[in-house]
Amino acid sequence: MTRQLSLNAFLHDTGHHEASWRHRDSAVDRIHDIDFDTQNALIAEEAKLDAIFFADAPGLWGATPFRPAGHLEPITRLAAIAARTERIGLIATASTTFYDPYNLARLFSSLDTISRGRAGWNIVTTQSEAVARNFSLSELPSASERYIRAQEFIDVVTKLWDSWEDDAILADRESGRFFDPEKVHSIHHVGNHFQVEGALSQPRSPQGRPVYVQAGSSNDGRAFAGRNAEAIFTAHQTIEDAQAFYSDIKSRAVAFGRSPEDVKILPGLSPFIADTRAEAEELQRYVNSLTVPAYGIAQLEGLAGVSLAHLELDEPVPLEVFGQAGDVLDNNRSRLQVIANIVERDRPTLRGLLHRLAGARGHNVVAGTPTDVADIITDWFQNGAADGFNVMPPLYPQLLQEFTQKVVPILQDRGLFRTEYTGSTLRDHFGLARPESLYGADATEEAHVV
Ligand SMILES: Cc1cc2nc3c(=O)[nH]c(=O)nc-3n(C[C@H](O)[C@H](O)[C@H](O)COP(=O)(O)O)c2cc1C
Repeated sequence: MTRQLSLNAFLHDTGHHEASWRHRDSAVDRIHDIDFDTQNALIAEEAKLDAIFFADAPGLWGATPFRPAGHLEPITRLAAIAARTERIGLIATASTTFYDPYNLARLFSSLDTISRGRAGWNIVTTQSEAVARNFSLSELPSASERYIRAQEFIDVVTKLWDSWEDDAILADRESGRFFDPEKVHSIHHVGNHFQVEGALSQPRSPQGRPVYVQAGSSNDGRAFAGRNAEAIFTAHQTIEDAQAFYSDIKSRAVAFGRSPEDVKILPGLSPFIADTRAEAEELQRYVNSLTVPAYGIAQLEGLAGVSLAHLELDEPVPLEVFGQAGDVLDNNRSRLQVIANIVERDRPTLRGLLHRLAGARGHNVVAGTPTDVADIITDWFQNGAADGFNVMPPLYPQLLQEFTQKVVPILQDRGLFRTEYTGSTLRDHFGLARPESLYGADATEEAHVV
């Protein structure tokens, strides 16, 4: 079979455009309604998409009066959605900086079991100072410290998820033995950040481990992804930037002894879709006209760490404003570099730049016909820039529906996307192998009986 696209729907309140909630038909009164989440999940499932995904931060991060704020916790939301869907993968964000590994291992193992093997974990280290203050910390650990903790975190949860071998449960009424103690292992982890005895409080889940997803682009983030990630969310404006990222991550994975196919690279794509290009552009113009410049400016100032108060909205942004963007591989600078590149390449006015970013915070926003969108996807997929896409509709559910009903069939006709699910787990959808337990029969590590 020809190589197949992976398509993920990134669910985000009324849509990814920051002003989508002000659209006359937005679902702004339903963003805390699980029926709305489920409706979007079912649209994605009907089109055979690989997964839905929720972002998260454990705090009222970046909340301003100009945008819906206060999202529900994603693992809980996905557990509710799991009960009302059958095949679609369910990816939740959770932070290695603020969770404890044992708690997190229980939650994802439960989600994987409840959903019969559809859980994925978007592993983030969380960049917010304000969030740190919710967790008894006066300041956020540095980015490199956070990634060091993240690696130990992964090592611990991996051992916990593997601590019950797949055939540990006997449920033998005759002998009276429910499980085989030889097959349930303490992990005895002793490290710099964590000391965890184990075993996990529950048996191995259907996928063995949730799918490991990651979304960082700095040097530390890429190293972490190359070693651990099975799917990566990333933001690129041009195919050239995406190609460079793609080959870098694949070679890092190979350097860790993995195969390039073991990691799926999914850039963000936020498409305004209509039957004609003019209508799609008009829709984009309308939603852009609803933005509040003060909001966009505050976001941009926060990201760039500079004041933009001296700039005129309708004058070109001077190059030097983002000239200090720094190396794309420095921690937390990757999205800023995307913005610096837009300013250098397209010389937008400040209002124009704010509109570019309003769509999806630096992800690739396009406006066109279903064929235009399918052509971009095909081009990136066939030319070493992507294994699929993290689809970020500007307005939910309308523009998800346009995508699933009009773009997906074109991709199916081109033989690039499934017309039916061929498996039942998220690993099946992504074409990823189910990992053996580290403590299985062939394990070289010493087995520890509970
Ligand atoms: C599509 C996408 C989704 C993300 N979702 C989250 C999120 O939900 N929570 C979070 O704390 N960070 C999120 N991030 C940010 C990354 O995890 C990471 O912190 C950021 O890219 C900076 O890391 P870096 O310095 O390695 O580039 C997301 C990034 C991308 C590209």
